[in-house]
Amino acid sequence: MDYMVLYSSKTGNTKKVATEIFSALPGMSKDMQNIEEYRGKDADVFFVGFWVDRGTCSLPVIDILSELHGKKIALFGTCGMGKGTAYYRTIEQKVTVWLPDDCEYLGMFLCQGKMPMKVREKYEISREDPREEALRKEMLKNFDEALFHPNDDDLSDARAFVEQMLK
Ligand SMILES: Cc1cc2nc3c(=O)[nH]c(=O)nc-3n(C[C@H](O)[C@H](O)[C@H](O)COP(=O)(O)O)c2cc1C
Repeated sequence: MDYMVLYSSKTGNTKKVATEIFSALPGMSKDMQNIEEYRGKDADVFFVGFWVDRGTCSLPVIDILSELHGKKIALFGTCGMGKGTAYYRTIEQKVTVWLPDDCEYLGMFLCQGKMPMKVREKYEISREDPREEALRKEMLKNFDEALFHPNDDDLSDARAFVEQMLK
């Protein structure tokens, strides 16, 4: 098989991006599976999707990545934080350490994804320290912006990412 799209998604954001990536891949020799259901089906190129869990990917994703020897691998993911090049780069650094040395890393696509309401509750309590208060307001703003993601622009960026990876 040419392409395998694997993804881990707790609340559906990463699955949405995975579905877009799958549909952007050319031809019929492709498959898409939730990482939890993956039983080792082989492919030349793997697109592996994750949701950001405390600054990196979750354990099931680490397990799969470590096993993909000799493959071409592109990563994609969603996270609560909006586009911030430096933050996205640290995530990329933390996740790519799990790739086996003998695989070819193609690149990563990351976009914002909505978060559960209970996360917002944490940011609703005002702080006395002005610096903490400023950060709290920023986080609230970020949370509310995330509610609209992944949006159509994110999905079209995901398509462009696939095209770039296949070049
Ligand atoms: C336990 C937990 C930890 C998270 N940690 C981060 C984080 O460190 N950085 C971040 O930007 N978003 C974080 N998020 C937000 C998710 O990565 C984000 O909502 C993502 O789009 C969820 O994807 P999913 O719908 O595919 O599960 C966290 C969410 C949860 C539930």
